[in-house]
Amino acid sequence: MPNRSPHRSSNNSKAHLPVITVLGGSGFVGTELTHRLAEEASEIRVLTRRAQRVKSFRVLTNVKVVETNVHDLAELTEAIQGSDVVINLVGILNSSGGQSKNSFDGAHAGLTETVVAACEAADVARYLHMSALGADENGTGAYSRSKGKAENHVRASSQLAWTMFRPSVIFGANDSFFNRFADLLRLAPIMPLARADAKMQPVYIGDVCDVMIGALHNPDSIGQSIDLGGPEVFTLKELVSMTAQMAGLKRWVIGLPDPLGRLQAFLLEFVPGKPFSRDNFDSLKTDNVLPEGVEAQPTSISAVVPRYLGNSDWNGELQGYRTMARR
Ligand SMILES: NC(=O)c1ccc[n+]([C@@H]2O[C@H](COP(=O)([O-])OP(=O)(O)OC[C@H]3O[C@@H](n4cnc5c(N)ncnc54)[C@H](OP(=O)(O)O)[C@@H]3O)[C@@H](O)[C@H]2O)c1
Repeated sequence: MPNRSPHRSSNNSKAHLPVITVLGGSGFVGTELTHRLAEEASEIRVLTRRAQRVKSFRVLTNVKVVETNVHDLAELTEAIQGSDVVINLVGILNSSGGQSKNSFDGAHAGLTETVVAACEAADVARYLHMSALGADENGTGAYSRSKGKAENHVRASSQLAWTMFRPSVIFGANDSFFNRFADLLRLAPIMPLARADAKMQPVYIGDVCDVMIGALHNPDSIGQSIDLGGPEVFTLKELVSMTAQMAGLKRWVIGLPDPLGRLQAFLLEFVPGKPFSRDNFDSLKTDNVLPEGVEAQPTSISAVVPRYLGNSDWNGELQGYRTMARR
């Protein structure tokens, strides 16, 4: 079910939006956005590498899941033919290295170059591109640089009517931030944490979807890069401590000095699912917060996250964290 923003109403009338193709539509953001778009669009095509794994849209009659090699220009061009809008949500947090389709460069920059070329070849003008706050071709960390390169491929197109979205960490029932930290915190009473002082401004998935759908209805958003952050800034240590409380756990979170933090990142690269990496460590050297003057999205962590982490009565330290968030 879609995560509704408690602050905004949605347009329930069908088919105000035309045919939309979504890449990465099977993921955390894609599943939510596709459910929301399905209320308005006449047809949505979700392109995926493996259709068998995508089960979440079976009840939606106007959503078609199409198995496609999105990295192949000819195949992708064919798949998006007749679309009015293409939305690219493909992204990875762990790179297989090199230039493969599963490397940062392959999944972000390389794929975006192919998507832009396919849109131009298929005459699809409207393009929504999901990037990330802090994406910068010359930035810290391979993730951020590859996302920055992808942005530049989009900006270089003279044919596309694009809008770009640059969120900080996104939270919602199936997120991989709070849920993953909650899983890790359940393993031991002490959580040693790298880059504990790094600042973040988590944003609610319902708000992200509202902004993306709003952009489709607003021609003024064409050519805009929209930074997205929530109403509060926290350090990573505060977020992890809050996670423990919201999951009903008593845990001790200890910040590690950088040399130990980097060693931890290296060791965690060998753990299945790679919960943390040296590139994640490098990315955390830069605070992930909105630039001065950019309006924050409304939904707070405390309004949503306790409901899916298990401790819905959580309010013990809420006031203290709110005070810190306004620093
Ligand atoms: N979640 C966050 O906190 C956050 C924060 C900032 C920015 N973002 C950005 O938002 C977008 C969506 O994030 P998400 O959390 O929804 O990610 P997600 O749940 O991991 O989903 C990513 C999707 O990308 C597709 N994909 C992954 N690797 C691919 C590859 N090598 N080639 C082609 N397709 C591939 C997958 O589709 P199939 O497996 O179906 O092919 C998957 O559905 C990403 O661009 C991400 O960088 C997310």
